[in-house]
Parts: sequence; C-alpha cells; structure tokens
Amino acid sequence: MLLQVVRELDLPPDSVALDVGCGEGAHSFRLATHFGFEVLGVDPVQRHLDLAREARRDEPEEIASRVSFGRGSAERLPVADSSADLVWCRDVLVHVADLDAAYAEMARVLRPGGRAVVYQFVATPLMSDAEAAWLFPVMGVVPSSMSPEATDSAVAGAGLVVDADLELGSEWGEHAEEESGQGGRALLRVARLQRDPERYRAAFGDAAYDVMLGDSLWHVHRMLGKLSGRILVLSRP
Ligand SMILES: C[S@@+](CC[C@H](N)C(=O)[O-])C[C@H]1O[C@@H](n2cnc3c(N)ncnc32)[C@H](O)[C@@H]1O
Repeated sequence: MLLQVVRELDLPPDSVALDVGCGEGAHSFRLATHFGFEVLGVDPVQRHLDLAREARRDEPEEIASRVSFGRGSAERLPVADSSADLVWCRDVLVHVADLDAAYAEMARVLRPGGRAVVYQFVATPLMSDAEAAWLFPVMGVVPSSMSPEATDSAVAGAGLVVDADLELGSEWGEHAEEESGQGGRALLRVARLQRDPERYRAAFGDAAYDVMLGDSLWHVHRMLGKLSGRILVLSRP
C-alpha cells in the first residue's frame, strides 16, 4: 500500500530518495527496484547499517548500484539542503522525541516540490493509560510522539503541506492473519508468555521477555484497534 502511495506521486526514475530510519534496508531496496530511484538509507544504529550493507551484496548489480547506506538520524540527516526528491520514513518517528527537529530536517533536505511519505503508529482512545505505560517504554516508543497533534504541529512548524492524511486501522493485520496467521500466532505467544513467565525469563532474561511480550502485544493491540496507522503524504512548497 505504501509503495502504491509512492507510485501515485509519479516521480521519475533516478529521483533521489532518502529512507529515513532504514533499519536493515528492505524498503531502500524496494524503492530502487520498483521505481529506479537512487536511494540513501539512513539509520543511527551501526548494526542495522552493517546488515543493510550485507544484504546489498545479495541484490542484483543494477539495484545494488542505486542503493547506499549512511549513519544519521531523522533529526540530523547526512545530506545537503534541497537535495532529495522523496523522503520515505516508515515506522520510525514514534522512536523520535523531537518531532519538530525531524520534520524541520525533512523540509531542509527536500527540494522545492519534493515529497515525503511518512508512516507511523498512533495510539487510539481504546488504548488505556496503564497499557501504554507498560508497552511504550518496552518498545522504545516516545509516548508524546504517538500523539497525532504533536505530528500535526511539527509538520506545520516545518512549513510542509499535507497532501494526504490516511488512516490505516487493522487492515494490514487482518491481511497478515488471513495469509499467514501472524496475528493468531502473536496472540498465542501472549497467552504463553503470560501464563508461564518464569520459564521464559529463566531461558532468555527479563529484558528479552519484556520485548517479546511487548512485540506480541503490539500485533494484538493493532488487531483490537488500540493502535492504528497513519500515512502522511507531504510536500515542500
Ligand atoms: C521499527 S524499525 C523500522 C525500520 C524500517 N523503516 C522499516 O520500515 O522496516 C525503526 C527504525 O528506526 C530507527 N531509528 C530509531 N531512532 C531513530 C532516529 N532518531 N532517526 C532515524 N532512525 C531512527 C531504528 O534504528 C530502526 O532501524
């Protein structure tokens, strides 16, 4: 669906795209493969960049030659002003405390007329304060960055224009459940982790237990409508 959003922007091949918070680079490769973009994946975590560079070796030469990776963060992108046609930022900004800085940086690096596609989770009113208070720190989520208002204010402050604001509920989770049973397996993991925590804590440690429970609950909350997705399509005037 996000790739379809990019397709509809109708950017020419060879456009310069930044994959902000690229992780292990899966979407950097997709942007090069589907659209012929020149892609720079940026992430603050060296391990992710190492894995992305390793994955680059398995790509065909015409894709690998279009994709590179560099260290940086959403708040400080390692590229010149007005140098990008597209910023792609998927599932990253809930980890960023200073959304004003992140959106200002997006506006700085986009050329006039450049576009951004941002996808992030937001908490819905169905998520209780107690659930959020346990889950967000475990998942490395900055609670204030889950609020749609904080994003709206940062986008406006950066002078970016909102071309589309799409809500994505449980559709992806429903699809994954039908295709692969992913949601059901997450629910099963939650049940077992909660029924016999000591077994898992003893084997993997307390921190790993919390992350596994948090990750599994994330899928379940998404299916229950406690978490929802937001896709923003932005442009720099
Ligand atoms: C959930 S992963 C998403 C990875 C990738 N965008 C994807 O959609 O598969 C979150 C990524 O954000 C990165 N990240 C965390 N803080 C960041 C920041 N301040 N700026 C940019 N990326 C950040 C993490 O290192 C991680 O790779």
